[in-house]
Amino acid sequence: MLRLLAEQARTARDRLPADVHDYYATGSGEEVTLGEAEAGWLRHRYRPRVLRDVSHVDTAVRLLDAPLAAPVLVAPTAFHGGLHPDGEVATARGTGAAGSLLVLSSRSSRRIEDVAAAATGPWWFQVYVLADPSLSRHLARRAVAAGAGALVLTVDTPYTGTKARGGGPPVTDREYLVNLGEHLAAGTDPDTATSQDPACTLDTLHDLTDQGVPVFAKGVLRGDDAVDCLSAGAAGIIVSNHGGRQLDRAVDTAYALPDVVAAVAGRAPVLVDGGIRSGRDVLTALALGADAVLLGRPILWALAADGATGVTAALDAVRTDLAEALALAGATSPTDLPDGLLADTAPPR
Ligand code: FNR
Repeated sequence: MLRLLAEQARTARDRLPADVHDYYATGSGEEVTLGEAEAGWLRHRYRPRVLRDVSHVDTAVRLLDAPLAAPVLVAPTAFHGGLHPDGEVATARGTGAAGSLLVLSSRSSRRIEDVAAAATGPWWFQVYVLADPSLSRHLARRAVAAGAGALVLTVDTPYTGTKARGGGPPVTDREYLVNLGEHLAAGTDPDTATSQDPACTLDTLHDLTDQGVPVFAKGVLRGDDAVDCLSAGAAGIIVSNHGGRQLDRAVDTAYALPDVVAAVAGRAPVLVDGGIRSGRDVLTALALGADAVLLGRPILWALAADGATGVTAALDAVRTDLAEALALAGATSPTDLPDGLLADTAPPR
């Protein structure tokens, strides 16, 4: 793990009450998937090219229409209000200053429109399909109207996985319902209406494609599911096990990525998240065929440690680390990796 990310994580742990820290840190079940996330990337080894003039390395890429300083985005994560008084508004500011892109969670603790106003670059909106599906469509419509460049439908959460540690969301009732509250019909129980919809299908994904922006499917771990999502209208796939918070013992994403990349076969962007903590982790993801990665917990700890400035510093550090890794691997950009950069078999552990 990059030193700055480790320091920010330590600061966040020291600063937050233990049950609040655990709400964000925890995985589900016995935390097997959580425990294996970072190791998945560490399994791989490089075969760098030499004498390739790497005096100018440029990490910038375009993802669909979005210009990015590096192929590193901010993953959608719930309730930033439990980490910083400005919540997702601070995250959006910090992300924009680093030239990255925030995927704003449906479980945002700040109003979508306020986060949009703080964004200085492209941002996307993550959609959960909720028990009252009209709520999801209201949020998606509001996000697109406020400028979201894409929607990200999370497909791995028919139910919220039971967590190993921590309490409930560490935010006030007002923050919990800051976006959904106004769309709840009078007399409905907010907890029931805003719980996940287990009847979500490929038709649900298809229905979301009428909002006028590309739709990504997030939470795919198999090539056959990726193909089905593309057939239903998805414009891209995000390989993810939800940071080890849904089905415990699901495979790590470094393991899942090649199958999805092979099945998608260049027809759409493939992104990946889970346990990515350094520029070398990003380089490995790119070498396995990903177009970009997303960071989850590192951004939460950065926000808790130092607000928007911390978020910018974390993203800048990963970008700088990626630039060094590219140069040392013999590449000048994320799209110019040497053939055969990854060794076929990793050394014995
Ligand atoms: C998440 N994640 C998540 N995903 C999503 O689609 N919508 C959400 O609201 C949330 N909320 C959420 C809260 C917290 C506290 C965590 C840690 C994660 C999953 C997230 O988008 C991403 O898949 C993982 O966090 C990536 O793994 P790392 O980087 O945290 O290891």
